Amino acid sequence: MEKIVSLCKRRGFVFQSSEIYGGLASCWDYGPLGVELKRNIKNYWWKKVVQERDDMVGIDASIMMHPQVWVASGHVAGFSDPLVECKDCRQRFRSTDIDLNKCPNCGGVLSEPRMFNLMFKTFMGPVEDAANIVYLRPETAQAQFVNFENVLSTTRKKLPFGIAQVGKSFRNEITTGNFIFRTREFEQMEIEYFVKPGTDEHWFDYWVNERLNYYVGLGIKKENLRLRQHDKEELAHYAKGCFDVDYNFPIGWSEIEGIANRGDFDLTQHSKFSGKTLDYFDEEKGERYLPYVIEPSSGVDRTLLAVLVDAYDEEVADKETRVVLHIKPEIAPVKVAVLPLSRNEKLSPMSKEVSALLRPHFMTQYDDAQSIGRRYRRQDEIGTPYCVTIDFQSLEDNQVTIRERDSMQQVRVPVSGLLDELMARFS
Ligand code: GLY
Repeated sequence: MEKIVSLCKRRGFVFQSSEIYGGLASCWDYGPLGVELKRNIKNYWWKKVVQERDDMVGIDASIMMHPQVWVASGHVAGFSDPLVECKDCRQRFRSTDIDLNKCPNCGGVLSEPRMFNLMFKTFMGPVEDAANIVYLRPETAQAQFVNFENVLSTTRKKLPFGIAQVGKSFRNEITTGNFIFRTREFEQMEIEYFVKPGTDEHWFDYWVNERLNYYVGLGIKKENLRLRQHDKEELAHYAKGCFDVDYNFPIGWSEIEGIANRGDFDLTQHSKFSGKTLDYFDEEKGERYLPYVIEPSSGVDRTLLAVLVDAYDEEVADKETRVVLHIKPEIAPVKVAVLPLSRNEKLSPMSKEVSALLRPHFMTQYDDAQSIGRRYRRQDEIGTPYCVTIDFQSLEDNQVTIRERDSMQQVRVPVSGLLDELMARFS
């Protein structure tokens, strides 16, 4: 994990938030490479679960929602963790994480556990009173539920179908840590998949398998993924059943996605609290019912961390160790690096032309500083699948060299065929 954190900072994937002020606990900023990787992961998810399916549509809802949403959803009453405080050093812990006999920090006496609600609260408008309390959403899911009728009537979808959303959520966790693994502000990619009651077990199994395979498709090694079923005591207040997709992180097996069978809990609650009918008319059967919901909920930040950990490798090449990120080319932050053999001014015009040719199609980086060997290593370290090198021979024969990241194999191609060659390799 230390190597990943160091690479992330050194190469501009992830920085500590507000670093020049000493940082802010558990908050991180994605840098120039991190933002590309993150966007690519979110786009990949969207492509797989929305674009490539005809039973899924997306929404992008407001982070702040009517406060009654969170009463209905059970989060005001039940989205809490048991907190204990040390009477001596005042440090706070989640009681389930520690041995309650003594403070793990100073050995002091701990208070009795009390429930601590994990939702961030703020006030909407200038008056700070109870009537104006709003919450930052602790999950994106509720917007799918409260928009169920809007989506149904505008898209005329038939069951089973899903509503997908990507966005920020917030949880005032008692303990955070392990880099971007557990933070108070995080991003989710959530599907609420609405099904006919009685078919929910079938669809639950379907989505559990589908989601495990999705991570393999994202380039993560199968042996580093596992499914873990939740015990009854572990289930969230809305869930009938739940599986986690765990990744084998350096901190141990930990969740990157949860797939829950939420039954009709949420639609029932929102129907009750809003007074609106949220049922579905099944034309074939001529009956009305509240759909059940299967929820595959993936963490963007955790997926990104898993992608980095899984891709990281140190290989010995030419008697030197090279650090290489074997990221799936489709999600690599930089797709192609254009590297003139040297900074010699004769090479610049053609190199700039090649770069301009590729830039509209691929995230392209131009680099002419330092030796070519060092520049290859820099690109390997950030997972760039292809380097295109322009040398003095290129000026004569209009050919350039493509170097592939993993095999380090090099082939010469005419500039006129370069774009097609790279397009073909990416597809
Ligand atoms: N919507 C499920 C979760 O946020 O964990």
